[in-house]
Amino acid sequence: MNVTTFSFPTTVLFGPGALAELPARAQRAGIQRPLVVTDPGLLRTEAFRALARTLGEAAQRKHWFVYSGVHPNPVETDVREAAAVFRERGCDGVVAIGGGSALDAGKAARLLVKRPELNFARFYDESDWSDLPPFVAIPTTAGTGSEVGRSSVITLDATKRKAVLFHPEMLARFVVLDPELTVGLPPELTAATGADALTHCIESFTCPVFHPMCDGIALEGIRLIGEALPRAYRDGGDIDARGKMLVAAAMGAVAFQKDLGVVHSLAHPLSTICGLHHGLANALCLVAGMRFCAARRPGIYRRVGIACGLDVLKGSDAKADERTISFIAQFLAALSLDLRLSAHGVGAEQLDALVAQAVEDPCHKTNVVPVSAQDFRSLYREVL
Ligand SMILES: NC(=O)c1ccc[n+]([C@@H]2O[C@H](COP(=O)([O-])OP(=O)(O)OC[C@H]3O[C@@H](n4cnc5c(N)ncnc54)[C@H](O)[C@@H]3O)[C@@H](O)[C@H]2O)c1
Ligand SMILES: [Zn+2]
Repeated sequence: MNVTTFSFPTTVLFGPGALAELPARAQRAGIQRPLVVTDPGLLRTEAFRALARTLGEAAQRKHWFVYSGVHPNPVETDVREAAAVFRERGCDGVVAIGGGSALDAGKAARLLVKRPELNFARFYDESDWSDLPPFVAIPTTAGTGSEVGRSSVITLDATKRKAVLFHPEMLARFVVLDPELTVGLPPELTAATGADALTHCIESFTCPVFHPMCDGIALEGIRLIGEALPRAYRDGGDIDARGKMLVAAAMGAVAFQKDLGVVHSLAHPLSTICGLHHGLANALCLVAGMRFCAARRPGIYRRVGIACGLDVLKGSDAKADERTISFIAQFLAALSLDLRLSAHGVGAEQLDALVAQAVEDPCHKTNVVPVSAQDFRSLYREVL
C-alpha cells in the first residue's frame, strides 16, 4: 500500500481589517526589524500605505525597511538584492506584500540570508533549512495563493526559465488575508489573477494524484470563484466578493500541492518568452487545455461543472464536459479577457521556442493524460 502525506499547516488571519494584527503577531514570531519586500507598483497603492501606517510611519521607519525592486515574473537578481538589503539593515524577518511576484521573491530571499552564495540550480541538494528567517505573507491580488505555498517561482539567470524552488521550511509563519488590501486591484488584474486561481482549482482537481482533501478544497474553490469573481470584477469595492476571492485563491494553492497540468506548462513559457502576466497566460490557455484533456479522458470535468452550478450530474460524459467547458469559456469572456494570443503580441514565429520550453516544464508531467511536443504545438496554434 502507498502511504500519502497530507498537510495544511499555515495560520491564516482572514477578514477586513486583519492587517491590524500584523505588529503583535510579527513580534510573537520574533520579528522586530522586518524587511518589507514588494514591487514598485505596490508603493503607489493604498494597500502599501495601509501597511506603512500599521508598521509605524516615518519616525519609526528605522525599525522596518523596504526592498521594492521585484519584477513581474521575478528574476534571480530581485531575490539577491532583497537578501542583500536584509543583511545590510540587520533585519530579522521578511514581510512580503503584493501579488505572487513580491511574495515569491520575499519567500526566496530568506534562502540567501545565511547562504549568499547559494546556487538556485542546486537548491534541491540542500537539506536543512530550519534556520530561515520568519516570513509573513500579505497578498494584494487573489490569484497565485503563493502565501500558503512552500514554493517560489523564480526565473533563473542561467536557464531563463521559471524554476520552482520548493521546501517545507519556506512556508509563511502566518498569512494576512485582508480583503481591504485588494479593493484597489484594477478590473483587468482582478480578472487575470482570478483566472489563475480558477486554473489552479481545475488543474489540481483533475490531476491524478491521490489527495481527496485537496479535491474537496479545489471544488469549493471553484464554487467560490464562480460566485465572487464576476462581482469583484464589476465592483472592486465589494468586500464580500474580494474576501471570497482571497480565500479561493489560497484554496487553489493548497489544492495544487497535488500538482497542476498542461495549462500551466503552456502558460509558463508565455511569461518567460513573451512577458505575459501569469494569470492572463493561464486564462488564454485554459479552455484549449480543457478540451484537450476532455477529448482523451471523457467525464473528467463533470464534477467541475457541478461546482460551477451546472446541472450535469446525469447525462453522457461528453455532454457534461462540453457544457462545463462552454461555461468556463463564457465565464472568462464575461471578464473582458481577450482570449487570443495574437491579441497580446504573441506570433507564430515564437512557436518553436514556446513548445521547447513547455515540453521541459514540470507541470504537465502530472496532467491527467500525457502531452507530447506535437500536442503543445497544436494547443498553441489553437490559441493563437
Ligand atoms: N509560488 C506559487 O505557488 C505561485 C503560484 C502561481 C503563480 N506564481 C507566480 O506569481 C507571479 C504572478 O503573481 P500575480 O498574478 O499576483 O501578479 P504580480 O505579483 O506580478 O502583480 C501584478 C501587478 O499587480 C500589481 N498589484 C498587485 N496588487 C495590487 C493592488 N492591490 N492594487 C493595485 N495593483 C496591484 C503589482 O504592482 C503588479 O504590477 C508569477 O511570477 C507566477 O509565476 C507563484
Ligand atoms: Zn498559476
